[in-house]
Amino acid sequence: MAGLTVGFGEYTHAIVRGVPASLPKEALRMNEANDDVDLARARREHELYVGVLMHKLGLQIVDLPVDDSLPDSVFVEDAAVVCGDTALITRPGALGRRKETEIVKKALTDLHLNIVEMIDESATLDGGDVLFTGREFFVGLSKRTNQRGAEILADAFKDYAVSTVPIYDALHLKSFCSMAGPGLLVIGSSDGAQKALKVIQQMSDHRYDKLTIPDDAAANCIYLNIPNKGHVLLHSTPEEYPESSKVFERLKDHMLIPVPLTQMAKVDGSLSCCSILVNKRREM
Ligand code: GLY
Repeated sequence: MAGLTVGFGEYTHAIVRGVPASLPKEALRMNEANDDVDLARARREHELYVGVLMHKLGLQIVDLPVDDSLPDSVFVEDAAVVCGDTALITRPGALGRRKETEIVKKALTDLHLNIVEMIDESATLDGGDVLFTGREFFVGLSKRTNQRGAEILADAFKDYAVSTVPIYDALHLKSFCSMAGPGLLVIGSSDGAQKALKVIQQMSDHRYDKLTIPDDAAANCIYLNIPNKGHVLLHSTPEEYPESSKVFERLKDHMLIPVPLTQMAKVDGSLSCCSILVNKRREM
């Protein structure tokens, strides 16, 4: 097991894909009552998100073409897991999302990553269920991701320990947690999130620091370590989650960047879902 966090959060490229016109009506969602997605606003928020990664943080953007026939395709994170110079192309749990991997695989091939494909037809895995802490992986076993998917991930990233975490009340593992820095876990307060945290703590031989925030959805953040900027955290806005934002403001060593995702949240999208981050500068 590598057990190291050197290079954690260092990225040079972000793969993104624009919001399809089909998203408001056809994207999958846990709450069918969420039928009021404003497409124009979703696109403005996505542009802002990409703008932060490109202009504020200096990442090179690989902008995949919008595909209206794939309503969830803005959520590129689910199509691949990248760590170091290896990219595992997933087999998304929702049948209607499987084709999303094709163009993502091409983009990762063009970036000269080592491509591993999940060809076993009994396996499913969504990238949203994969939490990489810098020293190990946790994989949520959810409606989208199964044990076989987790085994194939473990095989693809042999340098790291992989533990599974049962998910009951959420779409993905990262629907209620993420990393806010090396060794720092952000976790929501719901019973489901706290149960998952206990499993993470039991399975790991490392003691993670934790930041507990009131709102599960706000616990999905993006941590980056950017040259000349240091620790950077993209997180939800005070307008969306005022109480959780107050907790983020305690992170005095971080450059905090609130990024709204009010519309895609209605179809279970969160910040990490909208990009695949890649480090071409050096291996982690
Ligand atoms: N709308 C995101 C998903 O259900 O996969």
